[in-house]
This record gives sequence, C-alpha cells and structure tokens, in this order.
Amino acid sequence: MSNDGLSGTLEAAQPRMIEAIAHYWNERIHDLQMTDRQVGTLGFFNDLDDYRFDKLRYLPKLVDFGGYRDRRVLEVGCGIGTDLVRFVRGGARITGVDLAQRSIDLAQANVELHGLGGRADLRVANGEALPFDDDTFEVVYGHGVLQYTADARRMVEECRRVLEPGGEAIFMVYNRVSWLNALSHVMGVSLEHADAPVLRKYSIPEFRRLLDGFGQVSIVPERFPVRSRLHIGWKGTFYNRFFVGIFNTIPRPLVRRFGWHLMAFCRR
Ligand SMILES: C[S@@+](CC[C@H](N)C(=O)[O-])C[C@H]1O[C@@H](n2cnc3c(N)ncnc32)[C@H](O)[C@@H]1O
Repeated sequence: MSNDGLSGTLEAAQPRMIEAIAHYWNERIHDLQMTDRQVGTLGFFNDLDDYRFDKLRYLPKLVDFGGYRDRRVLEVGCGIGTDLVRFVRGGARITGVDLAQRSIDLAQANVELHGLGGRADLRVANGEALPFDDDTFEVVYGHGVLQYTADARRMVEECRRVLEPGGEAIFMVYNRVSWLNALSHVMGVSLEHADAPVLRKYSIPEFRRLLDGFGQVSIVPERFPVRSRLHIGWKGTFYNRFFVGIFNTIPRPLVRRFGWHLMAFCRR
C-alpha cells in the first residue's frame, strides 16, 4: 500500500475512534465509585472534589487554580468540571470542552450548584479539532486527557494553535515507567479505564517528544502512593498497610522520576 493509501485509511478510522471515545465517556464518570450520592447533586460533586484533591495532593501546589483571574483559560476534556469549578472560583474567564455530552451537562450542573452559573462557557467539542480561532487563549489545561484521545499529537497541536504566543499549556499524562504501572503488573490489578478505547502511557522522553512544538517544556513527575478506598481484599490491605508507608520512606528525589503522573508546563 502506498503512503497515501495508508494515510487515507488512517483518516477514515479517526472519526470512528473519536465516536467510540465519546461513547465510552458518555457511559462513565471518572471516580464515580468514590461516592454514593445521587449523580449531579451538590453532595456528589463535593465528594468527587474531596476524593480528587485528597488523592492528587500535588495538584493545587503545582497549578494555582486561583491565580488566573480575568485570564482566558481553555480546559480540554474537562469531565464533570471538578478542576474547572476551581478555575471559575478563582475568576478565570474559562471555556471548557469535552467530547462527551454527559460530561458537559454535569460540568454545567457543577458550576451552577456552586453558585457560579453563567461564568463558564461549556461545550461539546473534540480537542483534536477545536472550534476556536488561532491565539484565542492565554492558558490551555488538559489533565488526564491526551492519553485517552485518538491522536494525542493532533490534540497537542490544536492546543498550541489556540494558545496566544507566550501562552501557557499544562498537561498531565500517565508515566509508563512508574511505581503504579509496575505495581499493577506485579499485583495483577488493572488500571482505571484500562477498557477505554484508547489508554496510552508515556515515558518522560516520549512525552517530551509529543510536546516538541512548544518553545519551553518542563516535565514534573508527581502522584506518589496515598492510601486508597478503591481496592479491597488482601491486595488493598497490602497496598494500604505496607506499600504506601514503605514507599514513602524512600527520599523523594530518588523516586521522583517514577511518579505516576507526568505534569508538563509548556510555553508557546
Ligand atoms: C479521565 S477523564 C478526565 C476528566 C478530567 N480532566 C479530570 O481530570 O477529572 C478523560 C476525559 O477526556 C475526555 N476526552 C477524551 N478525548 C477527548 C477529545 N478528543 N476531545 C475532548 N475531550 C476528550 C473524555 O470525554 C473524558 O471526559
């Protein structure tokens, strides 16, 4: 097959994959098992916020959600809007997009139930083909999204295109060379959303290559073991009683590169 024929086939496969991804995320809510409140209520959103920021203690230390007052911020793959609400509360002029209609509906409810209605522009859109002009935003944020899309390079390019020169992009992907990936193999416990149509993990050099269109890139590995309510039985006991404590006695500089989340801070 000629190169042209192959790229034609790949082009044709792309919309089907995007459809499959939208379908998957319309059926699922990230971290849903962490609350027993009714979906879409204030208690539900608050439970998922508590869970997220307990597990991801690093996130508000690295991303100053309150520090973007009056800045034009785009969140790609905003899910139910947990981070987005923090940007809104901090006064950012935020636009949130997600492939899944259900995510956008829940993000809208989340904003409204927190008394912030009308302060976010939320739309269903594909992060690989953003419906915005070049140079529209000062900041683009996508946490846990590039690894789930069909063509991550295309999404990165789109995020760069809509960012004004000198603008800031923040992304998070999963680290293939990490404590959690290794533990999941050793313990035979599958990762969350392992059944998603796309779930890619990156080494630090692979992630850096993905972002090579940006002028400056700094990658910070984060997300070290914290106690979890997610796993039960002897594996959960082993993890919570032994693994978390022992791992966290190792000086962080020795294990930093094995963090599960790779946060990237980029400048266009
Ligand atoms: C693991 S969830 C993360 C949600 C949220 N960012 C968070 O950290 O809780 C992944 C999200 O990415 C969205 N997504 C995946 N591919 C996308 C694309 N091409 N364009 C827009 N959103 C996408 C999914 O619909 C889903 O809501």
